[in-house]
Formats: sequence, C-alpha cells, structure tokens
Amino acid sequence: MGVKGSSSSSPPVVYLVLALAFNVAVLCNGGKTSSFVRKAEKTVDMPLDSDVFQVPPGYNAPQQVHITQGDHVGKAVIVSWVTVDEPGSNAVLYWSDNSKNKRRAEGHIKRYSYYTYKSGYIHHCTLRRLEYNTKYYYEVGLGNTTRQFSFMTPPAVGPDVPYTFGVIGDLGQTFDSNKTLTHYENNQLKGQAVLFIGDLSYADDYPNHDQVRWDTWARFVERSVAYQPWIWVAGNHELDYAPSIGEKIPFKPYTHRYHVPYKASGSTAPFWYSIKRASAHIIVLSSYSAYGKYTPQYNWLEEELPRVNRSETPWLIVLLHSPWYNSFNYHYMEGESMRVMFEPWFVQHKVDIVFAGHVHGYERSERISNIAYNIDNRNCTPVRDQSAPVYITIGDGGNIEGIASNLREPQPSYSAFREASFGHAILDIKNRTHAYYSWHRNDDGNPVEGDTVWFFNRYWHPVDDSTTK
Ligand SMILES: *[C@@H]1O[C@H](CO)[C@@H](O)[C@H](O)[C@H]1NC(C)=O
Ligand SMILES: *[C@@H]1O[C@H](CO)[C@@H](O)[C@H](O)[C@H]1NC(C)=O
Ligand SMILES: *[C@@H]1O[C@H](CO)[C@@H](O)[C@H](O)[C@H]1NC(C)=O
Ligand SMILES: *[C@@H]1O[C@H](CO)[C@@H](O)[C@H](O)[C@H]1NC(C)=O
Ligand SMILES: [Fe+2]
Repeated sequence: MGVKGSSSSSPPVVYLVLALAFNVAVLCNGGKTSSFVRKAEKTVDMPLDSDVFQVPPGYNAPQQVHITQGDHVGKAVIVSWVTVDEPGSNAVLYWSDNSKNKRRAEGHIKRYSYYTYKSGYIHHCTLRRLEYNTKYYYEVGLGNTTRQFSFMTPPAVGPDVPYTFGVIGDLGQTFDSNKTLTHYENNQLKGQAVLFIGDLSYADDYPNHDQVRWDTWARFVERSVAYQPWIWVAGNHELDYAPSIGEKIPFKPYTHRYHVPYKASGSTAPFWYSIKRASAHIIVLSSYSAYGKYTPQYNWLEEELPRVNRSETPWLIVLLHSPWYNSFNYHYMEGESMRVMFEPWFVQHKVDIVFAGHVHGYERSERISNIAYNIDNRNCTPVRDQSAPVYITIGDGGNIEGIASNLREPQPSYSAFREASFGHAILDIKNRTHAYYSWHRNDDGNPVEGDTVWFFNRYWHPVDDSTTK
C-alpha cells in the first residue's frame, strides 16, 4: 500500500505517460519504472574556490568538523576535525542546554601521507556519558581560533521511540551533491541523523587520488555533519588502493579521517559494526572486506544477529554499499557473492530494510528472497517472502560519475519502483509497528515525495506491506 505522489510536480502529459507505464507494469506483474526523465546534464564537481569549500577564517581554525555515534547506545559522540597550521588543542569543551557546567574531553591526533600529499592534523575525540535526548554545545580549536557547534543526543533506546533517519548515498561533491544535501536539510520531515551508505568524496576519481578532494568534501558537508551524526558505511571509493603510486593500504584516508564505534559492538575492524539508536538496531557491513565463511566479518555477523533484541529495538536495518537486488545495468550482480553468504540469515532474523548505494539511481524492491537454490534444485528465482527485507538502492547522491540511466528491461517483478534521478530518503520510525518512508528527488520541490511506503515491522506487525501485486 501507499505509493502516491510519484509525479505531483510533473506536467499532465508526464502524468499520463506515467499512468500508462503503470498499467503496463501491472499487466506484466512487475513494479514501476518511473517515467520521470531527469534533464541530461553532466555532473561536475564544484570548483575548489566554491563557497562550500571555504576554509574557516582564523589562525589554525578547526575545519571539516564532523560527528558520529560514539558508543553502542547513543550516549557518546565522536567529534572529529582538522587543523592545518599546528596541531593545536586536542580537547573538546562541551556542555548541555540545562547545565552551565563545562566538561572537557581529550582526543588524539592522526596524520597520514598519501603519494605526495600530507594530511593536516586530524583530531578525534569521544564525548562520553552524555544524557539522552539532550542538546549539547561543543567547542573545538581551544587556544587558537575556537569554533562552536551543537547536537542533540537521541532518546534512550526503547521499542516505541520515534526517530527520523535521513538516508544519503554516493554523495560526492558536485553541484548536484550540493542540491541533494540542501534538499535533505530543507526536508520538513527533519532527519535527526544520516545513514550514509558509502562513497563519500570521490577523491579517487582525480589523478593520483588527489587527497585535497577529501578535505574539500569534509568542508562541504560540515554544515550538516557537525550538527547531527552521520553513520558511516565504507564504499569502494573509500578503498584508495593504488599500488602503482605506492599506496597499498586499503582504506588509508578513510580510516584516518572517519572513526566509528566498532569496538562497542564487538567488531575487530571499523568496516563492520552495529549501533542501537532509539528503536533501531543498525548493522553496517562492508562489501569490500572479506565475508566468506570463517572470516572476521562473517563470524561477527553470525554472532551479532542473534544479539538483536526486537523487544528493545524492533527495527533491524542493515547498511551495505553494493546492492544485492539491482535492476540497473550498472554494477549488475556485483553484490551477488555477499548475497549468497548472508541472505538466509537476513530472512531468518527478519531484517526490516537493507539500504545499499553504489548504483547511481534509486530503486526499491518488494520483500523477496532467493535462498532456496542448492546448486541442484533449479530454484534460483527470487520469490515474494514476508520474512525478507525490502532492498533499497539509494546511490543517488549526485557524484561526479553521473546518473545511472540504463535500466534492465523488462523490470523484474521483485523491483517495486526505480528511477534514474538524484535524491535522498527519510525513514521516519513512528513506533514498533510502523515506519513511514519517503524518497525525494532533487528535481522536485521540497514537499514532493517521489516514492513512499508505510513499512510494517517484521517482528511486531509482519503484515504484507508490498506496493505491487
Ligand atoms: C594554539 O593553541 C595551542 C594549544 O592550546 C597553544 O599551545 C599554541 O600556543 C597556540 N598558538 C598560538 C599561535 O596561539
Ligand atoms: C550550495 O548550496 C548552498 C545551500 O543551498 C548554497 O548557499 C551554495 O551557494 C551552493 N554552492 C554551490 C557551489 O552550488
Ligand atoms: C530484551 O529487551 C527487553 C526490553 O529491554 C528486556 O526486558 C529483555 O530482558 C531483553 N532480552 C534479552 C535476552 O536480553
Ligand atoms: C503506530 O504508528 C502508527 C502510524 O502513526 C499508528 O497508526 C498506530 O496507531 C501506532 N501504534 C500504536 C500502538 O500507537
Ligand atoms: Fe560505489
């Protein structure tokens, strides 16, 4: 139920075409391929002297400020920033709205070299023992140019706690990326934290992986991520693996710049981990780390899934970069080997939603699984499965590589909705049974919803919530 408003801002002709396309889709038992046609334009990176890349004024001013959840339950925050003139202070000064009492936390500094580039002083500092549901102010750059920011901690973890996540993937730093971020910021549904589905800066699309583009990206998104946590997923553009220029350590820039609380969930590497936030248990996986049987990621996930307590966190959401169900002619079947390894577990544990990126478009599946095949029995087609997650591909942030406009035909019946547009989504969890999900294309004004669904929780309310027959 619940698909509506798919073309509210489009002219009547487009609406008619859409209606026809929908009829055809129904006849062939497939989903809907939106007929919304995005104007064909090149996606180009914003130039280095763009307003969004400006270095904050002042001696040794902290720049690239960003925060993420710092523990398993949302009572800690990792604050990160970069200074360039000198190391400066490692400390963060912070205080809550209802207390004048300023607390101080000490962080540490990392630097890295990459080919001919040497990074600034990258600071990471964890603020712990925060109160739930409280506004905090924090200051970085103590002793030199000090800058102040603020954030809200989430409510205590619990089964009926409403919470609103933004969902953004494959953002990059083009003019379109800036539109996506602006659109997200202006969304009246007011995301409280972002699930970022991998592929951050696309610095590796520049000669020798020009690391300056990691710095510009972090300055660009500071206006959001300094004030609300973004939950990080590693994508292929985080690998920066370039042996031809002597860079043989995968994820070097990413791991120096972005810290995640992986140890808090018993993980041994920052590429796979989990957090609990409000009524959601979020599992982050890495498409670019080993996941075969007996590997650390495999072992961790096998132990992690039974730990999820749906009485405490009804919503089980998985984030990974390379989609398992994708009907675009880009990265087709790249996620297949991971699907083969983990899909039976997702069905067994009734995962609600899986978000992926990588493909630069938007697609939402019905609840389907493809786990019956055993090499012998020929049962190798996806089937409707009410214990299975909905798979959403949201690699449509608008990066320099452009839109994925070549779709496979006919649309497979498991694909409920797909469109070659840039945008973002909001997952608005209402309580243990209901979550309202909406996808917003950049080309539309803010109130317009390109795709919407009421998701019913698989544990508490496993009623059919499919949107196509
Ligand atoms: C910058 O701050 C650091 C740490 O507080 C301090 O040691 C240093 O003297 C300051 N530099 C200047 C030029 O004020
Ligand atoms: C990016 O978007 C912001 C907010 O809409 C705007 O102020 C800024 O001028 C934009 N910058 C570029 C380079 O498009
Ligand atoms: C699951 O969470 C509920 C609610 O917080 C709690 O009462 C219960 O003991 C937990 N179950 C386990 C197995 O930890
Ligand atoms: C959960 O939220 C939905 C949607 O807002 C609402 O219809 C339903 O009554 C809520 N359930 C409870 C138990 O409050
Ligand atoms: Fe990717």
